Parts: sequence; C-alpha cells; structure tokens
Amino acid sequence: VTRSIIIGTGSYLPENCMTNDDLSKIVDTSDDWIVQRTGIRRRHIAAEGEMTSDLGIKAAKAALSSAGVDSQDIDTIILATATPDNTFPATAVTIQAELGIFHGAAFDVHAVCSGFVYALATADAYIKAGLSKRALVIGAETFSRILDWEDRTTCVLFGDGAGAVVLEGQQSDGEMSDRGVLTSHLRSDGRHKEKLYVDGGPSSTQTTGHLRMEGREVFKHAVGMITDVIEDAFDATGLSSDDLTWFIPHQANKRIIDASAKKLGIAAEKVVTTVQDHGNTSAASIPLALDTAVKDGRVKPGDVVLLEAMGGGFTWGSILLRW
Ligand code: ACO
Repeated sequence: VTRSIIIGTGSYLPENCMTNDDLSKIVDTSDDWIVQRTGIRRRHIAAEGEMTSDLGIKAAKAALSSAGVDSQDIDTIILATATPDNTFPATAVTIQAELGIFHGAAFDVHAVCSGFVYALATADAYIKAGLSKRALVIGAETFSRILDWEDRTTCVLFGDGAGAVVLEGQQSDGEMSDRGVLTSHLRSDGRHKEKLYVDGGPSSTQTTGHLRMEGREVFKHAVGMITDVIEDAFDATGLSSDDLTWFIPHQANKRIIDASAKKLGIAAEKVVTTVQDHGNTSAASIPLALDTAVKDGRVKPGDVVLLEAMGGGFTWGSILLRW
C-alpha cells in the first residue's frame, strides 16, 4: 500500500510582533485578561503589503529545503487559507508560480481553522489514489486583515503566519508501526455558521468584511467536537491516548487545548503549545506548531503524532500519523 509521509516542515512568521500591552493601547484590554482567558502573550502581524502568498512562499521554501526536495519534484500544491490574496485566482497558484513550478496542480482549500487538517487529508487522499507523488501542503493566513480592530472580543485572539509540509508517497506494509498518515477524519456542520463567520464576501456584500464570533458559543462546542473526532481516529487505528507521543492541536486558545487534552487523558507533557507566541493563526497554526516541535527536536522518527482542529462552519477534523 501507499503511505503518505511528511518528509519536511517549514514555517514563517512576519517580523512585526505585537504584545498584549501593545494591544491595550488600541482597545480596552489588558495583558492579564488576555493571558488568563486565552494563554496568548504575543502574535505576529504582517507588514503593509505583505500578503498571505508572501508568508506561504517563505514557509514552503523552508519546508522544501528541510525535505531536501527540489521544487520541480512537487506535483501538487494545496494551500489552506481563509484570507487569500484575491477572491480569485487561488493563492496556491501564486505560490506555485513563485516557486517556478509550471506543471501539476495548485488549489486552495477553505475550512478556516480546520484548513490545514482538511488540506493534509486531501493531499493524503490524492497520494493514495495515485493522483500525486509529492505534495506541498501549506497553511497561510493574514487574519489581521479581516479583524475589526475596534472589537476587543476578537482582535486580541488572532495572528498572522504560515507553515508548510512536504508529503511524499512511499510503499509500506500498511502496519500501524510503519511511518506516515495512519488515519484522517473530517467533519462539518453548517448549522453553526453564524457563530463564527466573516460579515462580507464577493457574492453577499462585495466587501471583504470582518470576523464576527460568539466566543462563548464556540468555546461550548469546541471540546466536544474535538474529542469526538479524535475518538474516531483511535477507533480506526486501535491506538489510544497512551500510544501518543505528541498532541499538536490547532492553537486557538490554551483553555480549549487543556480541556481537550484532559478529557482525552493526554498527559500535559505531550501537548505542543505555541498559542502563547503566535495567537490563533487559523490554518497556519498546526504546521507552525509542528515545525516548532520538529526543529527543537521534540518530534522524532517513530513518534505517534495526533493533529486536530476545529473552526468556523463549524468544521473539525483529526489526523493521526507516525513520524
Ligand atoms: N479584554 C478585556 N475584557 C474583555 C475582552 C478583552 N479583550 N473581551 C471581552 N471582554 C469582556 C467582555 O466584554 C465581558 O465583559 P462583561 O462581563 O462586562 O460583559 C467579559 O470580558 C467576559 O466576556 P466573555 O466573552 O464571556 O469571556 P469568556 O470567558 O467567554 O472569554 C473568549 C472570551 C476568550 C473569546 C472565550 O469565549 C473563548 O476562548 N472562546 C473560544 C473562541 C475561540 O477560541 N475562537 C477561535 C476561533 S475558533 C477556533 O479556532 C476553534
């Protein structure tokens, strides 16, 4: 059987770092409030003119170089983003052109904070179906552009950034002890779309719009949805919380991460947390956290790694893999 293996990771954060104190000069908030409710201490904000594609290209180049793969050996580019450069074309084709790739296919996947899980599951399915040999999967966002900077209930939560992985198909015996993506599970439920959305768009208002969120409502649903889809991953593989080496969740909020880990019985030492430094970077948060944990030596070959996300839609999903 064919297994998809992550053979390289990369990430990029804009230079400009904004602390909670910096934010308290813009809206009525405080470092204490933000840290207590979310765990966030700082976030990076894209410079004027710095676009989602710019962040994505830098993360992609870093991933290619860590994989030791030439851009010409990539046949598929999937970009997860809810903040594309333009309504169309897909920002993935801008990245494709910038990498000098003129073959294969590039497209965007839009599942907001779950975008990277959706994109990685899609790339894995392409590889297993023989449609791709080596895919570049990117999560890149400039949420600072869709925030209402007068709304303290939302603008303190998000940041900009990008992360990327190179996913390669390799032959495997299909054992759980073999490397690669073991199982992926995707879910969505559009009845919740009013709880987290952007109040603009090409077909509705012909404006870009701003992010709107019922924070408490999102919080209420998050832990249950996350744990459900992780139980699905355990059921499909016969693995359990005890078998995990690392839990790398979407980085929205430390309280959601801690509550999910606790409910699943995942020890705190196994949880990779970057929300304190990045804020919620939506589709970029998992590949950013993954790259952090790979580069600092935590994630090693043979490790069992669980990725999970939940976000606007609602959408949610999990991916269990052996590194
Ligand atoms: N600074 C100071 N005070 C604030 C701020 C702020 N930035 N924002 C809100 N407040 C005030 C509110 O006005 C309210 O005041 P009041 O009691 O006088 O009305 C008080 O703080 C409490 O507000 P709540 O919204 O009830 O606070 P809560 O404890 O629910 O925390 C939060 C808010 C952090 C948004 C929380 O609901 C949450 O984390 N929700 C999950 C949302 C999330 O993470 N979304 C990310 C996108 S979805 C995803 O990625 C999964």
